[in-house]
Amino acid sequence: MPALVLLGAQWGDEGKGKATDLLGGSVDYVVRYQGGNNAGHTVVVGDQKYALHLLPSGILSPECTPVIGNGVVIDPAVLLSELSGLNDRGVDTSKLLISGNAHLITSYHTTMDKVTERFLGSRKIGTTGRGIGPTYADKINRVGIRVQDLYDESILIQKVDAALDFKNQILAKLYNRRAIEAGKIVEELLVYADKLRPYVSDTTLVLNDAIDAGKVVLFEGGQGTLLDVDHGTYPFVTSSNPTAGGACTGAGVGPTKISRVIGILKAYTTRVGAGPFPTELLDEDGEALRRIGGERGVTTGRDRRCGWFDAVISRYATRVNGLTDFFLTKLDVLTGWERIPVCVAYEIDGKRVEELPYSQSDFHHAKPIYEYLPGWTEDISKAKTFDDLPKNAQDYVKALEEMSGAPISAIGVGPGRTETIQINSFL
Ligand code: IMP
Repeated sequence: MPALVLLGAQWGDEGKGKATDLLGGSVDYVVRYQGGNNAGHTVVVGDQKYALHLLPSGILSPECTPVIGNGVVIDPAVLLSELSGLNDRGVDTSKLLISGNAHLITSYHTTMDKVTERFLGSRKIGTTGRGIGPTYADKINRVGIRVQDLYDESILIQKVDAALDFKNQILAKLYNRRAIEAGKIVEELLVYADKLRPYVSDTTLVLNDAIDAGKVVLFEGGQGTLLDVDHGTYPFVTSSNPTAGGACTGAGVGPTKISRVIGILKAYTTRVGAGPFPTELLDEDGEALRRIGGERGVTTGRDRRCGWFDAVISRYATRVNGLTDFFLTKLDVLTGWERIPVCVAYEIDGKRVEELPYSQSDFHHAKPIYEYLPGWTEDISKAKTFDDLPKNAQDYVKALEEMSGAPISAIGVGPGRTETIQINSFL
């Protein structure tokens, strides 16, 4: 019963789309279990490049059933436009399944996201502005709107009323904005009801049956381990659980059914938005990583902050996710550096610290302790096996593996679908 979780081991944008796509042909179901259209995958298939935000990347493999689980928050306008964009390019999206329990992002959630960030000023989180946090807040406050509510108009009216009651007070009294009319929101939402109906399904039943029948199910995390609301660099995090446990709650599948947890790990580190980042480079090396690695957000178009590889973080990702494997991405970006610094521990208040500190104050002033590994200049993008890599690149990979605590089972050496070295099978 191969049920695999694939998730970002750092701050997201590790290249998950490529990893999922690599598995695409052998996977029967690809499931998103948290987040929403704050995520962004770029998947290259042949000479075609696809930017996906909400849809699982398995949507590009005809034999695969893509699933949006209960833990995801869905902006229906974005979902429908992503679907029609793919249909226009000849991609069949009819197999998509959406959980009736997933929560909907409405226009008032995106409004709340933006006004709250503006209100926070210099203390802002740097969110994607897609309404993610306010939608999860409503879910936890039990005033959220779920996909299934679209099919009971009287319930929908009551729920939107309840959700707006309190928000309108805040909008008017705190943010000096006009109140939002519940009737207009209900009208907006009802337009989506028929369009989404063909996809709505009891996804936990479908997925559990699929696993029991021996199908290959891949749970695809959005964002990354350090953006997890529980295990990340809180409060500079997203509002859901990208870590492995999130796959269970966000898809309704028990932990005993998960067979493998694969962490996607970039050969260096990036982060978008605010928050601590010990190995961040504010010099020409950071600029070079950004330029060579094309480090610009798929979702927001913001430049990503760039820095050297941080083994304290990869070890932590192994711990909190129970990782069984890593998929190391973008190794080719490091080609050309004479020596490559790797952060092996932090210095905090004059002391060497090997593990990620649980204390936010400590992490905020952690200084990286570097080891310097010899670089390589050879083009590695044509490498098909580990042995094809130059010796120094092999040693870099082996060093990262040893420091991170789980085997590196695949290595990305270029953006294309075939530019990957597979060392161990994931199945
Ligand atoms: P939110 O998810 O829009 O609420 O944003 C919260 C934080 O997570 C911000 O720092 C975002 O930049 C970051 N974030 C959200 N989604 C992604 C992603 O897919 N990749 C990287 N960072 C993300």
